[in-house]
Amino acid sequence: MFGRRIAVVGTGYVGLTTGACLASLGHHVVCADVDALKVARLDVGQVDILEPGLADLVLEGRKAGRLEFVVGAENAVGDAEVVFLCLPTPMGAGGAADLSAVESVAEAVRDQLPYGCVVVCKSTVPVGTSTRVAALLRREDVAVVSNPEFLREGSAVRDFLHPDRIVVGSDSPQAAERVAALFAKLGAPTVLMDAASAEMVKYAANCFLAMKLSYVNAVAELCELVGADVTSVTEGMGHDRRIGQSFLQPGPGWGGSCLPKDTHAMVRIAESVGVDLDLVRATIDTNHRQQQRVVDKLRDAVGPLAGTRVAVYGLAFKAGTNDLRDSPALAVAELLAFEGAELVAYDPEISRPLVGMTVVDDPYEAARGAAAVVLLTEWPQFRTLDWARVAAAMSGSVVLDTRNHLDPDALRRAGLALHGVGRRAIAKI
Ligand code: UDX
Repeated sequence: MFGRRIAVVGTGYVGLTTGACLASLGHHVVCADVDALKVARLDVGQVDILEPGLADLVLEGRKAGRLEFVVGAENAVGDAEVVFLCLPTPMGAGGAADLSAVESVAEAVRDQLPYGCVVVCKSTVPVGTSTRVAALLRREDVAVVSNPEFLREGSAVRDFLHPDRIVVGSDSPQAAERVAALFAKLGAPTVLMDAASAEMVKYAANCFLAMKLSYVNAVAELCELVGADVTSVTEGMGHDRRIGQSFLQPGPGWGGSCLPKDTHAMVRIAESVGVDLDLVRATIDTNHRQQQRVVDKLRDAVGPLAGTRVAVYGLAFKAGTNDLRDSPALAVAELLAFEGAELVAYDPEISRPLVGMTVVDDPYEAARGAAAVVLLTEWPQFRTLDWARVAAAMSGSVVLDTRNHLDPDALRRAGLALHGVGRRAIAKI
């Protein structure tokens, strides 16, 4: 029989995607969460995470009888051959990862784990956590494996089912192979290694991506000063296969649930072994500077911001998600509010009230009386707005497009002055 009995602890982005995708591959999956309300909703197929394809997979798994939801990790693992820990590891004091959720679950399930099962850490955890989990479990018969996830929000299901690679690390090669076999159907390149290396891969990869983005944002700043256009520059760079076209889009800074947390954690990991990872520290600093640069650019374009009404287009940390965790849009909004700007925000997926701004559910309403529009999230629908209508609603004519996302011709036709990132401003006619 191909299908294995699997428990997944934690039903956030990573856990729910892992559980639903493993069920779709033919495994029998029990997902556990501490939140009884969430479990009850998932049980009837209600998925609150905005993730293409995820709700369908959950329903499919429920219908096929291969996906169950229960409250409490200890109620999920009794029959499991493999237990995935997909728990939050938020940034704790000083930037280090807070492992309390992983540790308390390890202790809670210790006596429930069946003989010979494998426990897999999927959360991003500092090097050495697999060893620590093994010590907490105190079970000679249970192997611990690290299997980092590389899912991007907004394409998590696709990323899971079509991964660039699968990384499985354990000090028990047999356990690593058992875990790798769960994904055999995916046909992806699979790299087996020791546990510490697998834990390191995730940090090394995410810090590299963050560095790439901070570098591109720094290049964009230079482009503005020397009269070059960053879009042409990155296109010219990206054709070099060693560089690649992806992750070369400048923006208002990078954010989300992973890159900020993982860069800080990597700096702390390095410090703990006496190394100053100044490259990654500079990456984080450049990101803060990029957020401040958005504010400076807006001030240059419209004058002092105190009392100036500004429409904020986009709040999510990137398009395709309703996630506000460490969103650069919120960071920029906070800096604008700090200078006294009056903010009216619109995001197609966010309508709840937020501190420091008024959130409205219509982009034209957000633009009413605004001296400037600042676009912070690259929602596709912003490209096709009726920009003449936006212009008519505004009191001024400045649009700051921090994602170089809008069509300059459409804005020019609407009589708006478009300011991008890393390129010359396009004056209104
Ligand atoms: C990221 C990693 O990509 C993923 O492999 C890891 O497992 C989790 O963290 P995610 O946080 O979902 O995924 O978002 P991602 O698409 O990587 O974007 C991160 C941030 O960088 C966003 O704020 C995004 O807007 C920004 N970004 C991304 C850019 O500014 N320019 C780009 O070219 C790409």
